[in-house]
Amino acid sequence: MGFNVAIDGPAGAGKSTIAKRLAKELGFIYVDTGAMYRGIGLYMLQNNIDGNDEAKVSEAVGDVVVSISYENGAQIVLLNGKDVSGEIRTEEVSAMASKTSAYKAVREKLLDLQRDMAAANDVLMDGRDIGTTILPNADVKIYLTASVETRAKRRYDEYVAKGQSCDLSAIEEDIKTRDHNDMTRKISPLKKADDAIEVDTSNMGIDEVVETIKKICKEKM
Ligand code: DC
Repeated sequence: MGFNVAIDGPAGAGKSTIAKRLAKELGFIYVDTGAMYRGIGLYMLQNNIDGNDEAKVSEAVGDVVVSISYENGAQIVLLNGKDVSGEIRTEEVSAMASKTSAYKAVREKLLDLQRDMAAANDVLMDGRDIGTTILPNADVKIYLTASVETRAKRRYDEYVAKGQSCDLSAIEEDIKTRDHNDMTRKISPLKKADDAIEVDTSNMGIDEVVETIKKICKEKM
């Protein structure tokens, strides 16, 4: 069994930025579970499957193989063998993944893959249900959060830095919708595990967050 760090929290709280940095510093593998849900969402978009139709999505998910590999330490998401790491980073895929990740067949598809990775490696895994469902015995559980305004501004800055045009209020609305979907779905909703440590990053810089969580991990290692 590897040393397992679970980082959960809402969209835009800084999970992937923090987890990537921390994994590098600790020499752990970073597992971005949201990217796996995005891979499934992308498949549904590519095949014109209605994300609101659970029966259709559940049937189609049988044809999907999502796998993860690493290139120079970076996670690569493979959808039926094809690298889709770039393609999954759009608002369209994000909205589809938010819908389809609520379905049992989709969550079951990824559960074993995620658990197997944690069993075989020292991992820092981020998502929504890692501390509550996937790795209930994780060595360290962090619930990373920030205000809606802060999260929207961060996402806005990311798009601008990539040269993509976007609208701050639309991003804020999207974040609220995704929070609602993620927190109210029946299976594995986003929720702070009882034994998770909450870190609110609204007024913290990246370095400060990384140092805070690293200290928590070191105490348990
Ligand atoms: O973190 P992200 O934005 O890449 O996640 C994409 C979607 O997948 C998001 O709507 C929540 C969902 N997700 C999930 O349900 N469970 C996880 N462990 C990770 C992500």
